[in-house]
Amino acid sequence: MRSPSHAAGSELGPTIKNMTTASENRLAGLIAKIDSREARIGIIGMGYVGLPLALLFSGQRFRVTGFDVEQSRVDKLNAGASYIVRILPSEIQEAQRVGFRATADYSEIAQMDAVIICVPTPLNDHHEPDLSFVTGTVKSIAPWLREGQLIVLESTTYPGTTEEVVVPLLETGNPRSLKVSRSLDEPGVHVAFSPEREDPGNTDVARHDIPKVIGGCGPASTQLASAMYDAIFRSVIPVSNPATAEMTKLLENIYRCVNIALVNELKQLCMRMGIDIHEVIDAAKTKPFGFQAFYPGPGLGGHCIPIDPFYLSWKARQFDFRTRFIELAGEINTAMPYFVIEQIAATLNEQRKSIKGSKILVLGVAYKRDIDDLRESPSLTIIELLREKGAAVAYNDPFFATVGRGRQYDLDMTSAPLDNLGKYDAVVIVTDHSTYDYRAIVEQSQLVVDTRNATKGIDSPKIVRC
Ligand SMILES: NC(=O)c1ccc[n+]([C@@H]2O[C@H](COP(=O)([O-])OP(=O)(O)OC[C@H]3O[C@@H](n4cnc5c(N)ncnc54)[C@H](O)[C@@H]3O)[C@@H](O)[C@H]2O)c1
Repeated sequence: MRSPSHAAGSELGPTIKNMTTASENRLAGLIAKIDSREARIGIIGMGYVGLPLALLFSGQRFRVTGFDVEQSRVDKLNAGASYIVRILPSEIQEAQRVGFRATADYSEIAQMDAVIICVPTPLNDHHEPDLSFVTGTVKSIAPWLREGQLIVLESTTYPGTTEEVVVPLLETGNPRSLKVSRSLDEPGVHVAFSPEREDPGNTDVARHDIPKVIGGCGPASTQLASAMYDAIFRSVIPVSNPATAEMTKLLENIYRCVNIALVNELKQLCMRMGIDIHEVIDAAKTKPFGFQAFYPGPGLGGHCIPIDPFYLSWKARQFDFRTRFIELAGEINTAMPYFVIEQIAATLNEQRKSIKGSKILVLGVAYKRDIDDLRESPSLTIIELLREKGAAVAYNDPFFATVGRGRQYDLDMTSAPLDNLGKYDAVVIVTDHSTYDYRAIVEQSQLVVDTRNATKGIDSPKIVRC
């Protein structure tokens, strides 16, 4: 998808046309390989980010190899099967027809022209960045590095990770003592950071329409990475260096986190004042400038918004800087599941009941509507808190037949059928999946606690919105 925005050369140094040295010719050769689709692309981490990315490259006729440490994922992909609901097996099979395959064997890195790292970047038990997946991956690929290869980190992380963590591990871990190329005429390995900006479940914006921000460890890295992503994205946005690209991703997610905290706080105030926060937001968003609507809910979920701000707070401390705004937003959002519990308790109290001994059905365990991802989902916290208080808790979620054990929860539950809802003392809507018939749910239930405004437009004394 060559586009006018493929202008890395003009902004960041001489263009390929002007190149003269051997290194520059090599770079031009690599870009020609991308243009002709001969370049082989390796993607490490076949998860929610890596697998769709692999399919995008396959869709543009690149031969893609997906690397993953989980053998079961490798086997499924090679059998033409999918383990992500929104990716159809037919899409995997179509990619296979242009050469897509998966492997757990890192020695195949040597055959790749570009390697893109999409492994998890969670927090550890102390709420600090856990870069072990990134460092483990980089250590595994370093022995197989080749001159001229492009390595791109896509995992969300704090500014400085690419230069301070990835580059040293690549340079010290490869047996040929290859260095990262810092200028157009310097040979070596090319390294860049390019954040993944996907919004799972969002069907309004196609992935290839999301502009791709790229920060290389020098002009050659930026040019090469820009050429590669330009083949699959409508526009690429080169920035000065990897740290700028790393910070761009964090700014975007922190912007969301802070604004969601703001509406979560205002929701609580509005409830006390007898004002409907959703009506307020709907009115405010008619302003054609200076306002973007964010919506309150039961707390943050997913692999990004609840986690990424802590990456920056942690890094900021190295600079003797406290990110007070971010920490306050985190505090408000983290407290939301507890607020939901208070609301359930107050609602049951009105009925002369307590949480202890009540039968409660939680609707939705996915962290947001219509997706099969329950990482950091507020539902999990709400279920655990209800159980701790003595409720008999059941859940229903069309995307999860069972919920077992994760990094921070141990539930061992099976999705309950959506019938006989009258047997529950309360039905709590935590995830507003679009397949639910909310009117029927309200009709059949004794009491509905709605944390998502999913019952908007339904008038019933059984509904408590919070
Ligand atoms: N999921 C999203 O919507 C989203 C959006 C933007 C950014 N991100 C970022 O992208 C990165 C990846 O997230 P994800 O949601 O795809 O994670 P994921 O857990 O869905 O997938 C990660 C994959 O990496 C594999 N893996 C782990 N260690 C590996 C190793 N050493 N070698 C090979 N494979 C390995 C895992 O088995 C898994 O298949 C994270 O940094 C995340 O913050 C995610």
